[in-house]
Amino acid sequence: MTSGLRPGPLLLLLLVLLVLPGSEEACPSVCLCLSDTVSCSSSGLTKLPQSLPSFSVTLDLSHNYLSWLFPDSFKQMPRLENLRMAHNQLGSLAEGVFRNASGLRHLDLSSNKLLVVEQHYFQGLWRLEELLLFNNKIAQVEGGTLSGLSSLKKAYFSINQITDFPFFSIRDHSHPFLTMLDLSSNRMSRLPWEDVKALPGLVQRGLYLHNNSLICDCSMYSVFWHWDLRGYDSLRDFADEHTCAVHGNPRSSIRFLRRSRFFRNCTVDKKRPISLPVTVLLSQVTVTEGQRVSLDCQTSLRGSKLSFAWLSPSKGRLARTGDNDTLISLFANGTLEIGATEVNDSGLYVCTAADAKRALNATREVNVTVLPPPPEAFNTGYTTLLGCAVTTVGVLVYLYMTPCRCGCCKQPRPPAIPIATYDPSTLTPVFSSSVREHQKIHTNKHVAFMEPRRREGGTEWASES
Ligand SMILES: *[C@@H]1O[C@H](CO)[C@@H](O)[C@H](O)[C@H]1NC(C)=O
Ligand SMILES: *[C@@H]1O[C@H](CO)[C@@H](O)[C@H](O)[C@H]1NC(C)=O
Ligand SMILES: *[C@@H]1O[C@H](CO)[C@@H](O)[C@H](O)[C@H]1NC(C)=O
Ligand SMILES: *[C@@H]1O[C@H](CO)[C@@H](O)[C@H](O)[C@H]1NC(C)=O
Ligand SMILES: *[C@@H]1O[C@H](CO)[C@@H](O)[C@H](O)[C@H]1NC(C)=O
Ligand SMILES: *[C@@H]1O[C@H](CO)[C@@H](O)[C@H](O)[C@H]1NC(C)=O
Ligand SMILES: *[C@@H]1O[C@H](CO)[C@@H](O)[C@H](O)[C@H]1NC(C)=O
Ligand SMILES: *[C@@H]1O[C@H](CO)[C@@H](O)[C@H](O)[C@H]1NC(C)=O
Repeated sequence: MTSGLRPGPLLLLLLVLLVLPGSEEACPSVCLCLSDTVSCSSSGLTKLPQSLPSFSVTLDLSHNYLSWLFPDSFKQMPRLENLRMAHNQLGSLAEGVFRNASGLRHLDLSSNKLLVVEQHYFQGLWRLEELLLFNNKIAQVEGGTLSGLSSLKKAYFSINQITDFPFFSIRDHSHPFLTMLDLSSNRMSRLPWEDVKALPGLVQRGLYLHNNSLICDCSMYSVFWHWDLRGYDSLRDFADEHTCAVHGNPRSSIRFLRRSRFFRNCTVDKKRPISLPVTVLLSQVTVTEGQRVSLDCQTSLRGSKLSFAWLSPSKGRLARTGDNDTLISLFANGTLEIGATEVNDSGLYVCTAADAKRALNATREVNVTVLPPPPEAFNTGYTTLLGCAVTTVGVLVYLYMTPCRCGCCKQPRPPAIPIATYDPSTLTPVFSSSVREHQKIHTNKHVAFMEPRRREGGTEWASES
């Protein structure tokens, strides 16, 4: 097995590496092309330049006169991650403008003239983390706009004319990373409060609704009352901008966070507050069969009077401590321990921590993947082969490319997995040490080979975390 060092793929790789520097791409004359960044801002552009360098990670088209983008506009830029188009004249987007631009993470369309955010606008942008749409003329956001944007962290819709927003499309698992939804300075007078109350806890915490045309009523007040109780920054920082119109009359508007007396007739159910589950970010755990796994249930709730319950894909609801199966046990601190994992223990584990006194619940989710044990012989054979291939390529690259010019050093980024951006410390307690060590060795092998090349490419300053 180890003898099979096939020359075909290696030669191909070398060929690609050697050919690349020849294909230098022209920079449009009105733009400024840096290593992986193209800036065409304030260039008087009325349409997209003909050919843009395909290796760009960042493209800045802000402060121009773009009013239309054709379908497939960014198809030739497979590495594009940041697209800045603020301060243009875009009134709508054609279907398929961002087709084949699914690497986008940051999209700035602020200060344009968009009227409607249509369902198809951001289709396929599943890596998108930040969406800036503030200061347009948006009156309507269509229902499916946000579905599929599963990596979304922050979305800014402020300073538009939005009268209603599809809150229903944001659910517990649809946007696990969304922590900022800015809908301030719009024209919403009545919100679908049941949908708002059903938003994931992290979204409610990061929901900005100040400076809208809210109409004072008890259902509105009740929701803000609970948010205020929890001390959300969105309310604290803009207390004076939270206004509502008495009997819908805009001339008699009151600052309702300051003037709670007005709502004294409202029955805010203080005994049983609306449910605000706070979902702690998903974590991912991979183990091999037979290993012991501990899943902790540390949530945003603190205190000694918490009770815990887990929902396990293979065993269902587990709520009592000392319900003491040899296979799976729940400790008083919420930690769930699976003694010897089996492949069919894989799945999503959801823990709920409940504080009965304050009527608060918080959940934490862990996605457990149990892999079947690897056949030992294959594993070592594969590792040796990989090591051998890496060394050979390294030597060849060194021999052929010592006076390395910039263009040849570009290395496509590894596909980004949104999970990987999370604080690894949250995963620490659940990784068994042998798994971690295995991964460490594995990555070191790659690093030794790739690191110097990437640094020569000069892309380091632009890398984002
Ligand atoms: C663009 O995406 C389509 C699928 O949506 C795919 O078939 C096509 O090959 C892609 N084109 C390029 C240039 O990547
Ligand atoms: C409130 O929103 C309007 C637009 O709806 C905007 O013109 C105004 O500047 C905003 N005021 C504040 C204090 O943000
Ligand atoms: C609250 O109720 C009292 C008596 O029931 C009534 O006089 C008062 O006008 C009500 N206040 C508001 C703001 O509706
Ligand atoms: C909070 O959790 C407890 C225990 O799991 C459950 O009985 C209760 O219904 C939950 N409350 C809400 C509002 O989800
Ligand atoms: C499981 O039960 C045994 C006795 O049956 C007890 O000694 C042990 O402490 C229990 N473990 C847990 C985690 O409750
Ligand atoms: C919870 O308790 C168990 C057993 O006492 C312990 O092994 C585990 O580390 C504890 N977990 C946390 C998060 O404190
Ligand atoms: C999981 O697999 C084991 C054998 O590997 C089997 O004994 C057990 O019944 C399975 N459990 C479920 C819930 O399918
Ligand atoms: C859990 O992880 C597995 C493998 O990484 C993945 O296929 C699956 O979709 C994940 N499930 C959830 C609910 O995230």
